[in-house]
Amino acid sequence: MNTATTIPVIAIDGPTASGKGTVSARIAKQLGWHMLDSGAIYRIAAFAVLKAGINPEDHAHALELIRKIKIRFEDDRAFLDEQDVTQEIRQEHVGNLASRLAPNAELRAALLELQRDFKRAPGLVADGRDMGTVVFPDATLKIYLEADVEARARRRYQQLVIQGKQTKLEAVLADLQSRDARDMEREVAPLRPAEDAQRIDSSELSIDETVDRILSCWEAVKQ
Ligand code: C5P
Repeated sequence: MNTATTIPVIAIDGPTASGKGTVSARIAKQLGWHMLDSGAIYRIAAFAVLKAGINPEDHAHALELIRKIKIRFEDDRAFLDEQDVTQEIRQEHVGNLASRLAPNAELRAALLELQRDFKRAPGLVADGRDMGTVVFPDATLKIYLEADVEARARRRYQQLVIQGKQTKLEAVLADLQSRDARDMEREVAPLRPAEDAQRIDSSELSIDETVDRILSCWEAVKQ
């Protein structure tokens, strides 16, 4: 028997600031499973491009670099080669560049195996945009977590204020809308619910309620 196929995966996809990251981490912790934050992988790749001073429009050069770098995670820390980039990759401009690089098919292909390697016993919670559609099409449970764009902008704005960042709600809203559009309209691995995904709207739900809902979905599908 091929054990890799028997390892359960819960794929949680959805737009920026839908709460996927926090919810996925909580579920992974409760189940005692591994967690893949695939957005962090795209962010590390974007940070590497910035650090090397490569023009992000120069796809061939960016791709050559991304094929060479080593992306890894240790506990809750993210590393680019030997550099701890946990803080750096959370900056808004890094996320923004990640979403500009993400439509590139070759770049996505270069990061695919790394993401699939996260599937290890006893299970994986995978958070991203294409977890249920491309990376883990055979996931045991697929969730598409959405929330209206104003609710997401308010959440993201509050996070930035808590971090002491100067910004305006309108600017956060505009950034989310352009990121959503780029993620949904790209040709390769666009953000969309997998056909067999369960859709959850978290606009009116707390983190706890969202976690409970996904865990009930899991209880219903697990054998
Ligand atoms: O989720 P996060 O905001 O950290 O992701 C950063 C960017 O990486 C997203 O805006 C998206 O464009 C891209 N991404 C992706 N596919 C994933 C995860 C992230 O294209 N599975």
